Amino acid sequence: MTAPEQLKVLLTKEEIRGGVARLAQEINRDYRGKHPLLLGILKGSFVFMADLIRLLEIPVEIDFVALSSYGSARVTSGEIKVVQGLRSKVKGRDVLVIEDIVDTGITVGYFIDYLKKKKPSSLKLCALFDKPSRRKVHVPIDYLGFTIPDRFVVGYGLDYDERFRHLPDLRFIED
Ligand code: IMP
Repeated sequence: MTAPEQLKVLLTKEEIRGGVARLAQEINRDYRGKHPLLLGILKGSFVFMADLIRLLEIPVEIDFVALSSYGSARVTSGEIKVVQGLRSKVKGRDVLVIEDIVDTGITVGYFIDYLKKKKPSSLKLCALFDKPSRRKVHVPIDYLGFTIPDRFVVGYGLDYDERFRHLPDLRFIED
């Protein structure tokens, strides 16, 4: 079984902190005078969401949605189901989706289409990590933390088979 020390660091917690601070500045600037609804996709976005909202200087409401895809731990199959639905009203709100990582784009692409039907007044996506080399569905990312290479990464909320979410740095599993 892989021990955390055997995983290589891709981004240190300091580098991640810098990226989150930059995203918060952009969001503070663009949403000044507004009261957006931040929707986090569970479970991976919970650490990012917690750090991000503490740097925001605008009033925000937060909610989380749990989506799941059928498939193995490392590959999104393409079929998504909403496990835990939304409790907040989306219609007429400025909605900002908070995602940990966009890989094929299938998960967040599905969720954005689902939200569009609920008629928000604006809808944007904030993703901390992007792996563009594996994209299958085009999803515009309005606020992006880091573009990363095609590696399976863990830490800062991201897991491999429910492990490693607690690690403060972003690490990768070597094949
Ligand atoms: P997508 O649908 O392929 O874009 O995958 C998005 C979801 O798969 C993310 O929300 C993560 O939960 C998971 N995921 C994709 N790549 C990684 C990774 O490198 N590490 C951990 N989880 C990942």
